[in-house]
Amino acid sequence: MYYSEDLVEEVRMKNDIVDVISGYVRLQKKGSSYFGLCPFHNEKSPSFSVSRDKQMYYCFGCGAGGNVFTFIMEYENYSFVEALKMLAERAGVELPEIEYSKEQREKTDLRNTILEMNKLAAKYFYAQLKSEQGKAAHGYLTDRQLSEETITAFGLGYSNKYSDDLLKYLRIKGYSTEQIHQAGLANIDEKHGAYDKFWNRVMFPIMDVNNRVIGFGGRVMGDGKPKYLNSPETPVFDKSRNLYGLNRARTSRKPYFLICEGYMDVISLHQAGFTNAVASLGTALTSGHASLLKRYVNEVYLTYDSDEAGTKAALRAVPILKAVGISAKVIRMDPYKDPDEYIKNLGAESFEERIGQARNGFMFSLEILAKEFDMASPEGKTSFLHEAAKRLIGFEEELERNNYIEAVSKEYRVDQEGLQKLVAKTAVSIGLATPAQKAKPTANRDRPKEDGTQKSQKILLTWMIEDEHIFSMVKKYISPDDFSTELYRTVAQLLYAQHENGETNPAKIMNHFTQEEEHREVAALFNTKIQKLTTKEEKEKALQETIIKVKSQSIERATKALDPTDMAGLQKLMNDKRDLDSFKNLHISID
Ligand code: GTP
Ligand code: MN
Repeated sequence: MYYSEDLVEEVRMKNDIVDVISGYVRLQKKGSSYFGLCPFHNEKSPSFSVSRDKQMYYCFGCGAGGNVFTFIMEYENYSFVEALKMLAERAGVELPEIEYSKEQREKTDLRNTILEMNKLAAKYFYAQLKSEQGKAAHGYLTDRQLSEETITAFGLGYSNKYSDDLLKYLRIKGYSTEQIHQAGLANIDEKHGAYDKFWNRVMFPIMDVNNRVIGFGGRVMGDGKPKYLNSPETPVFDKSRNLYGLNRARTSRKPYFLICEGYMDVISLHQAGFTNAVASLGTALTSGHASLLKRYVNEVYLTYDSDEAGTKAALRAVPILKAVGISAKVIRMDPYKDPDEYIKNLGAESFEERIGQARNGFMFSLEILAKEFDMASPEGKTSFLHEAAKRLIGFEEELERNNYIEAVSKEYRVDQEGLQKLVAKTAVSIGLATPAQKAKPTANRDRPKEDGTQKSQKILLTWMIEDEHIFSMVKKYISPDDFSTELYRTVAQLLYAQHENGETNPAKIMNHFTQEEEHREVAALFNTKIQKLTTKEEKEKALQETIIKVKSQSIERATKALDPTDMAGLQKLMNDKRDLDSFKNLHISID
């Protein structure tokens, strides 16, 4: 941890969670909490709750949860330190300069310098486009039917005809030739020395999710070669982990993204109202892209070019996306080349129809596969089905696999039971009879099923932080050691210590955990839904039952783990059992 715990806590306390989240999500007060539509999954009725008392948020739909830091980290895609900095600034808390090692400092400095240069360059290209010199470039863009509004929204620009214009400009701004080269904005060779990487091109600044310019694409105006020049990879530009247009698409609030191939496709789609379009940066889709996408959506539509290369690219993308749990559909653009041309010719409504007609990615891949076989002959069709069976094994979940088997049998008119048998036989023959469950990627929002033990413990903890009387009461019977998992025990220990000091502050407890997953779990702990209990007697009875459950499960665990030679341990267990028995006959009172 770079910053002291006190400082982290100060920043947290000075940023009221309801105020901060209100800046992102429309919240409405309901009882003691605020509710809104969850920004982390798509939903129609609000299950996202924010509590001012607890200074925590929790989504009853997808399980996202945490304190104000977690929210900023998840929403803005920030690291903890970035979230801390942002919230410190928001609240006017000054953070001390951190002592970095020389190497670390140089690395951070270089990144920052490149980002500064990129921003200056983007502004410079933009100004050029709007100037007299940029007239032809501007005309090129308007010929391609881009509106002024779109040009501004995407910050498009122009690099003029002289091959050292940007170099001169950045040198005046105080950057060295070497730095400009490191930013990928200049080339250096023995014969010509240093010269601008981009000249006489229409410029597309590439931004990361936080709207920082990380690189550029530059297009010739006309038929010259190469058609596009792209920035090389630099310390801030990783092509396999960024997507063009994601900075805008992420706020589109659509449950899926459209993925296309080119910058112009993204821009055209956004202009036509499809603000959920993104593109990879002149490279194939990687698993880095897939996990980035998974943060925002569970489904994508591939709108690749209709040529062979586009089809191949779509075929390659489907399994990469599936590996992180994203289901892919494929949209055909024929008879046009790409989304840009499609929209220009047939308009947005027709494109919307194509979205509706999208093919399931797997079925699409079979359709392409079928072209390699003579489907009219029995041998051809059989070979095709053998290959299809191999691919069907890829669906590890039985229900899903069966759904696909059904779809394939319908589409290719084969007996479903026969295909089912073939799939099973194929699985056995390649040693996959019971496919091992692969580890779920961490981004996956599926939560493991919890057992009753944990449920009672969660109810107890939620109750304790919500009601001081209950806390004092429970404390007499339950100790932190009675909780069954490491995480629960740690939380209980911290909570008991806070209670000793007269302040119960669950949001502060979260500062002790560094992983987003842990934040979710802790938030879930403090936000368990408790049945509405009206009368005092009902409450007391429920509480007593919960305490008994937690305690007896704890005794059971200890009994199993007891070393038979541990006499003191045995004695303690016997005492605990006796106490529990008498507790069962006790009438507890919560006032
Ligand atoms: P327009 O012809 O302007 O409509 O471009 P497009 O977006 O339709 O381009 P295309 O489908 O030909 O290419 C898709 C993407 O591949 C582009 O957005 C670029 O990122 C990249 N690309 C295209 N041509 C080149 C090239 O010559 N060199 C490099 N490095 N990348 C290219
Ligand atoms: Mn195009």
